[in-house]
Amino acid sequence: MLLPEMPEVNMSDRPLQDLLQPLPLIGGGTVSRIMPGPMEGIMHPLFCKAVSELALFDFWITPFLRISTDVPRDSRLKHFIRPFAETGLPVIVQLMGNNPELIAAAAARFRKLGAAGINLNFACPSKQVLSSGAGGSLLRKPELMRQIIEQTANACPDFSLSVKLRTGYEDPAEMESIFEQAVSGIKLDFIAMHFRTVKEMYRKTDQGLERIARAVKLAGNVPLIANGDVFSAEDAITMFRSTGSAGIMVARGLLKDPFLGRRIRQACGDPVTSATTGDGRAIFFNKLLEIARRDPAKYWSRPQFMELANYMWGSSHPYFDIFKQLSDKDFIAYEITE
Ligand SMILES: Cc1cc2nc3c(=O)[nH]c(=O)nc-3n(C[C@H](O)[C@H](O)[C@H](O)COP(=O)(O)O)c2cc1C
Repeated sequence: MLLPEMPEVNMSDRPLQDLLQPLPLIGGGTVSRIMPGPMEGIMHPLFCKAVSELALFDFWITPFLRISTDVPRDSRLKHFIRPFAETGLPVIVQLMGNNPELIAAAAARFRKLGAAGINLNFACPSKQVLSSGAGGSLLRKPELMRQIIEQTANACPDFSLSVKLRTGYEDPAEMESIFEQAVSGIKLDFIAMHFRTVKEMYRKTDQGLERIARAVKLAGNVPLIANGDVFSAEDAITMFRSTGSAGIMVARGLLKDPFLGRRIRQACGDPVTSATTGDGRAIFFNKLLEIARRDPAKYWSRPQFMELANYMWGSSHPYFDIFKQLSDKDFIAYEITE
């Protein structure tokens, strides 16, 4: 398909305030253009509570829920959405699967249960997911992607619907056909695009910005949310200005700096958001411990704390050694002092 000629815009002049404008959702409501990337295995109840108590984000996109052979019972769906809903923030539920009827039915049920919207995962590169024909493997079947999106939209009219993509399965040149065959002409709130291909997993690429800029053009009127390797406010501004994206999604960066979303807002001139001058990881970890002390039965789990510490500092950091040697009793009572 030939793309219409786009006038060249000098995007380095793009006002950063644009990133602070709320993004309207189909059916009403808005979300922030600085989005938390879904993270399966990380966004457990403790993590969600700490994020909301520190006001780090104002809505959720959940990690994926696999819909494979049946739509789970309401009790399971409620259990899935609860940690996010309990924060009082709007919750966009991410669904993953390759059966259009089942996905559409699950979406309609989540709508009834109070979700703010549905996001469809066509990005996950995990071997297990790919071998089941879901997540990123669907990028090779854009017609099926389209059916899943359209049936979900039909089952949930006037309801927020978005997708999460990578730039291709094997090659970013696939983007053109994916956009044309899977999403063109469909009303979506946004397309969140991780700039790697599925095959690239998390390998380095220096083509990220260029790929996102192409995706922005291909998305046309649908807001394209840029995702990949944003670890600082400067990275976010570079991504926003050099690609023309409608917003930024950050995932692993949050684990290296939980205040990253607030830092980006502040760098864009948000008068109401303050970031923190202290070590954001220490503040966040202390908040996790404080929550666990308040309600150990619900929130204390040593493996979860160790896993988060590993993501946040890495296993060679001195904190990690300290945590390993603490008894459970001393760990939960611990406070990181800088
Ligand atoms: C531990 C972990 C779990 C993830 N789980 C999901 C998920 O459930 N759904 C999803 O769409 N992306 C998931 N992702 C991908 C991220 O949302 C994001 O697209 C990717 O990490 C690239 O962004 P980043 O460079 O900001 O981390 C996950 C990433 C990580 C590191």
